[in-house]
Amino acid sequence: MTKTALLKIEDKEYPLPIMVGTEGEKAVDTRTLRATSGHVAYDQGYGNTGSCASQITYLDGDNGILRHRGYPIDQLAHHSDYVETAYLVIYGELPNATQRKEFGLLLRKNAAVETQMQKILEGFPTNASPMAMLSAMVSALPAYYPQLATNNFEKDLKGFDQAAAIAISKIRTIVAMIYRYQHGLPYIFPKQELPFCENFLHMMFSEPYQDYMAVPEVAKALNLVLLLHADHEQNCSTSTVRMVGSSASNLFTSISAGICALAGPLHGGANVAVMHMLQSIHDEGDDGSRFIAAAKSGSKSNRLMGFGHAVYRNFDPRARIIGDACDTVLKRLGIDDPLLRIAKHLEEAALRDDYFVSRKLYPNVDFYSGIIMRAIGIPMNMFTTLFAIGRTPGYIANWREVAADPKGRIYRPRQVYFGPPKRDYVPMARRG
Ligand code: SDX
Repeated sequence: MTKTALLKIEDKEYPLPIMVGTEGEKAVDTRTLRATSGHVAYDQGYGNTGSCASQITYLDGDNGILRHRGYPIDQLAHHSDYVETAYLVIYGELPNATQRKEFGLLLRKNAAVETQMQKILEGFPTNASPMAMLSAMVSALPAYYPQLATNNFEKDLKGFDQAAAIAISKIRTIVAMIYRYQHGLPYIFPKQELPFCENFLHMMFSEPYQDYMAVPEVAKALNLVLLLHADHEQNCSTSTVRMVGSSASNLFTSISAGICALAGPLHGGANVAVMHMLQSIHDEGDDGSRFIAAAKSGSKSNRLMGFGHAVYRNFDPRARIIGDACDTVLKRLGIDDPLLRIAKHLEEAALRDDYFVSRKLYPNVDFYSGIIMRAIGIPMNMFTTLFAIGRTPGYIANWREVAADPKGRIYRPRQVYFGPPKRDYVPMARRG
């Protein structure tokens, strides 16, 4: 029996169905609101609006809960790896041994990037934004796989497994190519025999005649960083992928749009902003109090980067996991990074400060991720591209929900207009 909400406007009442999700979260279904009442719901930034019914990730911001297809993120972080979690996010179930083997094989077979695509990369200045380069390269993929990117959902879904493997595997390779190009180094081609993360590190750091041998701790740390970024409900970039996908844009084009959204410093770009903040605290011998004071000014440009979240009003569970991993990884690698101590001091200071406590502002995934990425040798300007590699399974799974929805419609939000009222055209001669 569906419960209903009753909206009363003047003397009329409008029944609206109540939707109840798996975990009891409730929504007022306003799809009939405009047709029945002539009103639209207004929610700038969609912070209180459910844009879709999804089965991929459950996130409870008040209680700091994050689950992918029902599996808690801490269990996946402890027991799984990035490729297995990618399979789970995309296909909905943990793979059995055969499925895991086949998926891994598909990723390895699709690791190489067409040589011709080097020309796209080399059309950029070497100091261009790696995220701009990445989105450009990904938006070019449909040209090389037209049979998988017809912008016709029925046809595109037939090649979905192949397209998904291409997206995950080649985005990883393209990121390594960007690093090599920016540093004037020859491209290193993937080795089919290497696992996903080890192959990435090989393509990043090997030399033409000297293979980079990733120590297990580094590959494990990279696996964790990518796994923790695999999906995160309807965040800004994932919602962008769904928005673009809803116009029947193919998987690659939709992911390219998501990468553009992810690049923003308030979103995926925060991990770089955090490191700049920690570095300047270190260089000035500051204890972080200047940043905390500035962050309390409330201006968007002074925010404590890596802190706060559009949904979490509690610890981001990923921040806890990655914060703990920082200690382990740096110790195992024999790295004493002063920025880690500064980050921990900053976290302690902020969590004692009423400004942050009263606003329920806690560290998010970006607060510590940069420290681990730096420890494994990733240059700072590449951090957000690793976030993109990690998030690709989430983009794919969300694109597929849109493409496979038989009742799906193009995403087309409404607005409330506050511009000038109707007025007639004024010829030039009569203008002021
Ligand atoms: C990611 O959505 C996702 O899931 C994203 C993500 C994912 O996995 O996809 O989790 C990844 O993007 C994490 C967030 C990375 N961004 C940053 O770390 C940048 C710093 N954080 C903020 O800019 C901010 O917290 C946002 C952008 C993350 C959220 O912005 P909101 O939703 O506008 O914040 P809010 O409405 O909850 O703010 C409430 C109050 C405001 O003050 P008042 O108006 O009440 O006085 O808290 C203040 C804000 O000014 N505030 C901060 C702050 N974040 C919010 N004040 C200082 N420092 C901050 N970081």
